Amino acid sequence: MPIVDLETDSSLEVCCNETTNSSSSKEHLIPPDSKEPSSSCSSSTSSGTMTSASQSSRIKYLSLGVLVVQTTSLVLTMRYSRTLQEEGPRYLSSTAVVCAEGLKILVCCLLVLKEHNFSLWGFQQLLKEEIVNKPLDTLKLAIPAGIYTLQNNLLYVALSNLDAATYQVTYQLKILTTALFSVSMLGRRLGLYQWLSLVILMAGVALVQWPADSPAEKLSAGSQFVGVLAVFIACVSSGFAGVYFEKILKHTKQSVWLRNIQLGVFSFVFGLFGMFLYDGARLVDDGMFQGFNTITYTVIFLQAVGGLVVAAVIKYADNILKGFAGSLSILASTVISFFWLGDFVPTSFFLVGALLVITATFLYGLERKPAPSPVKV
Ligand code: C5P
Repeated sequence: MPIVDLETDSSLEVCCNETTNSSSSKEHLIPPDSKEPSSSCSSSTSSGTMTSASQSSRIKYLSLGVLVVQTTSLVLTMRYSRTLQEEGPRYLSSTAVVCAEGLKILVCCLLVLKEHNFSLWGFQQLLKEEIVNKPLDTLKLAIPAGIYTLQNNLLYVALSNLDAATYQVTYQLKILTTALFSVSMLGRRLGLYQWLSLVILMAGVALVQWPADSPAEKLSAGSQFVGVLAVFIACVSSGFAGVYFEKILKHTKQSVWLRNIQLGVFSFVFGLFGMFLYDGARLVDDGMFQGFNTITYTVIFLQAVGGLVVAAVIKYADNILKGFAGSLSILASTVISFFWLGDFVPTSFFLVGALLVITATFLYGLERKPAPSPVKV
């Protein structure tokens, strides 16, 4: 029988405060036969639960704020690092992906250790019980790990070929893929506004891709195609892996950080495999850390922070609020690209398209209470 993490799952908050929480999807993640007292809010009005709910709410908005800043800075720094002209070889993106995974595993281990009052024995017992003794449960994480590894590599391809603003607007299509996977895998139902917003979203992304008239931009049509294709594949993988991970997370009692250690270990191994497969010859010639500089370390750090914040948002908020963060970040990176970096002049198609995408994101979140449909696990 599925178990809901009573201490940290924000479903309790939904139960107590339905009118203020847009995370309606959580309601139907609580199975009807669960031990969780969700059908009646009476037992969740104790002061302990209220504290837990307000704590959860604080973490939710904090993680969203961090996500906006992290997304904007990662996209701009990654783009800068892939276009910067320097002497010597450029850093290998496959290596950067592996380093980010290693960093995430390290931070997650520290967070799990903290949950166990820094007891090494407790930590070791937990790893044995939850990872070694449950090989099938552990193996389930290999699926999102493989997909995220591909996605993380594709983002470098995308940002080597597209400007930051176009990339960000196009990547908002992951709202569409996430919605479709939520409907098919979690049995979630979308309201009228949500379906409408998905149509507006697609129209907005199509407008942003409209070819520009300037000859300089026409020359890069081939690279635009590669970049957009990479983003499209990343959107599908983001939608699937996000929903799959959410499903695993919300129906087991283990902490998100423990799950992330499992996810990270698989991602690290897959990343290493990809690194040797695609960059083996260059690795032999110039080593794993060729071309690394401060910008590279910043990109790796931001990518690792991003993974951790995404995990927290999936846990404490939901994919809708994650979409808002994406939209706010579009505004930020467009303004920075235009005024500060001076590497992007938006066309009127871009401006209308970006406006449609941002409107669609907020319209998607307007739907407060979709009809409940419990998930079968
Ligand atoms: O763009 P999207 O929201 O799909 O971002 C997913 C990113 O977060 C990927 O880099 C993935 O490796 C990371 N992630 C993570 N831990 C999770 C979920 C996602 O590190 N639990």
